[in-house]
Amino acid sequence: MFRAALRNADLFWVILFCVVFLPEAACGSADADSCHEVKTAYMMRQIGPVELVPDTPGTDESLRICVHPGPSCCTSKMEDSYMMAVRSETQQKMRSYSFELKYLIAGHTKAYQETFESLVSFTSNLTSTLFDSAYSALASDCRPLVFQLFSDIKRHLSGDANSSLDKTVRRFYNDLFPLVYRRLLNPGFGHMSPQSYSSLPSSHDDCLRMTRQDVSPFGPHPHLLVSSLSRALGVGRALSRLLRLAGEVVNATEKATLSRECGRGLVRMQYCSHCRGMTLIRPCTGLCVNVMRGCLVGVSELGEPWGSLVVLLQRLAATLATSSNHNSMELALLAVRNQVNDAILHAQLHGSFPLKGSKGDKSRSLKKLSREFQGSVQRYQWFFSELPEMLCESEMEVEQHTCWSGQDVVESYAGRVVGSSLKAQRENPEMTVRNTDPVLKGAKQKLEELTQVNITL
Ligand SMILES: *[C@@H]1O[C@H](CO)[C@@H](O)[C@H](O)[C@H]1NC(C)=O
Ligand SMILES: *[C@@H]1O[C@H](CO)[C@@H](O)[C@H](O)[C@H]1NC(C)=O
Ligand SMILES: *[C@@H]1O[C@H](CO)[C@@H](O)[C@H](O)[C@H]1NC(C)=O
Repeated sequence: MFRAALRNADLFWVILFCVVFLPEAACGSADADSCHEVKTAYMMRQIGPVELVPDTPGTDESLRICVHPGPSCCTSKMEDSYMMAVRSETQQKMRSYSFELKYLIAGHTKAYQETFESLVSFTSNLTSTLFDSAYSALASDCRPLVFQLFSDIKRHLSGDANSSLDKTVRRFYNDLFPLVYRRLLNPGFGHMSPQSYSSLPSSHDDCLRMTRQDVSPFGPHPHLLVSSLSRALGVGRALSRLLRLAGEVVNATEKATLSRECGRGLVRMQYCSHCRGMTLIRPCTGLCVNVMRGCLVGVSELGEPWGSLVVLLQRLAATLATSSNHNSMELALLAVRNQVNDAILHAQLHGSFPLKGSKGDKSRSLKKLSREFQGSVQRYQWFFSELPEMLCESEMEVEQHTCWSGQDVVESYAGRVVGSSLKAQRENPEMTVRNTDPVLKGAKQKLEELTQVNITL
């Protein structure tokens, strides 16, 4: 008999539990010889084909996870289906917890990208108007140069690892010099129409480009442009790179697979009670914490460097939200027009006249976006450190007086609850934890590298 086979202690708790706390539903005490409830739960949770569940408890010696000397409603085939189900349930739950974070990161990555792009596009147009208004002889030929300069700036802001402002600015002035030389410094040169310039032997332009390096006709202005842009774009660029990294880390945690060992722990915690006819009893908190920490050790290991990443993101957002006129990205971009003008004037007159830049309303949206992001990302500083416990809290909604220890109904969990680090997890009484998922290990390495590099920002 199913009930008779329970050890006395079990029986006591089962009866106490059933009578005092959860009449009928939890234990089906009225019908302990049947696997009816187990079948119902199996069906409701869509664990597998319901024919796998026997009508009455039996003894299956091939049970590997929910091993129990007495009768059981489980078979080894059911264990397999519980394993599949519990792994996907747990991954589903993890995704539901990280959903908001993922959305926050993806949404802000996009919003920042769009703000940067519109700012760059605006200042690109503004710079083009310089040629239209002040150097009409150069206007049509300079448009592609300005466009190229600003697409490189956009690439730099988006965090492209290979982008170099130095190269970008050097190329711009190298390309600009032949035009300035022929149209402004020696306007009589050849009396050519703009169209025929482009058909001039390119070797001549190459020669002028090389000359540019030697005679530095633009004075200190190219160099000044590089340094003001580096300074002003550094924060936006770092933010783009770190946001992308944050997205990759969240993706990696979603893709990480739960080990077989973890699956066994999860089945013991969630479903071995079902084998004994108890479908509603909750796992003990200590058991759950051990199992979840063991399963998510790779995720917990991300916790510390992720915390540093969040602090960096907040700091960068704070800088963009409050940046003064001296280091504002918008002003630096708006100033490109004047700096290019200064450079051309230097070439013409060896003098310069600073012009006043106007401030677009792009700056307001960048500030607002950054203030909002700074506040919302803060909540996620300890997200990955706390995820295992969060997953357990959802298990523990009900105040309970007895719980499932993985083997039995008990008053409280007797095992030692171990810490979440990989080192502490080697002592996990619920499962063998040896290593972390390679994807998560890679994510951790990348996090540590990038947060180290950017910590000085
Ligand atoms: C810049 O100019 C292009 C083409 O003239 C135009 O399509 C675009 O909307 C302008 N961008 C801004 C921000 O003014
Ligand atoms: C950067 O440059 C390296 C080598 O020049 C190349 O392999 C890599 O794909 C480039 N990365 C990007 C993002 O363009
Ligand atoms: C994360 O994964 C989604 C698909 O699930 C993809 O669209 C996105 O580009 C990825 N994000 C990063 C930063 O790799």
